[in-house]
Amino acid sequence: MDELGFNKIAGAILATALGFMLLKEVSHSIVHSEAPDVPAYALELPTEGPVVEEVKAPFPQAEWVAAMDADRGARVFKKCVSCHNNEAGGANGTGPNLYGVVGAPAAVHDGFAYSNALKTSGKTWTYASLDGFLERPGRYISGTNMNFIGLKKPEDRAAVIEYLRTGAANPIPRPEVAAFDPAPTEEVVVEADPGAVIEEMTAQDAPIETPEMVEQ
Ligand code: HEC
Repeated sequence: MDELGFNKIAGAILATALGFMLLKEVSHSIVHSEAPDVPAYALELPTEGPVVEEVKAPFPQAEWVAAMDADRGARVFKKCVSCHNNEAGGANGTGPNLYGVVGAPAAVHDGFAYSNALKTSGKTWTYASLDGFLERPGRYISGTNMNFIGLKKPEDRAAVIEYLRTGAANPIPRPEVAAFDPAPTEEVVVEADPGAVIEEMTAQDAPIETPEMVEQ
């Protein structure tokens, strides 16, 4: 191809690209698009195929510890004040006074009539048990008298626990982020068996069947 021909082609490609860019800009400025709250389609996930187990980091995860914010916790505690207070020597209400509860054994606050469920739970209020209890009190200790739906967000639980912790005279230390190494250890790495791999494939991944494969 001579040089002039090449230049024409290159010029045409450049002009087309420029045209597309312009078109995109213009259409963006005319049509303001916003993602809908609810997606218009549902994703169908394949039900067959290898089950990939989601590995959850052990408690407390880095995000949880980072969410230990006493100021936010003070706001979350507004959900608790109809039944609890956190002052030294504060009165019991519908629920026990919570001063110094982080790190303490469960159901030991003087003068409060705890449920048998909590009294016999044998729990100590560690970060993990408080997190579990505050997420869904009735599920964590079935039969508890704490009639509270729970705090769904882990950040809210971490925050209110930090608020309770720092409100005590001698707060227990903040927790360390639990060590977590999701990489498989040498023992669990198994030699790949090519036959097994084909069996585990999802319909989507499976190679298109050829007559020889059907015969097998
Ligand atoms: C509707 C009242 C009510 C609300 C709201 C409530 N609690 Fe409770 N809470 C109770 C009662 C009652 C108990 C005692 C449970 C038992 O004896 O089984 C309790 C027990 C507890 C305990 C265990 C105390 C101990 O001495 O062992 C903790 C910790 C606690 N609540 C924290 C909270 C926090 C934090 C909130 C807010 C996010 C909250 N509660 C909201 C009523 C409530």
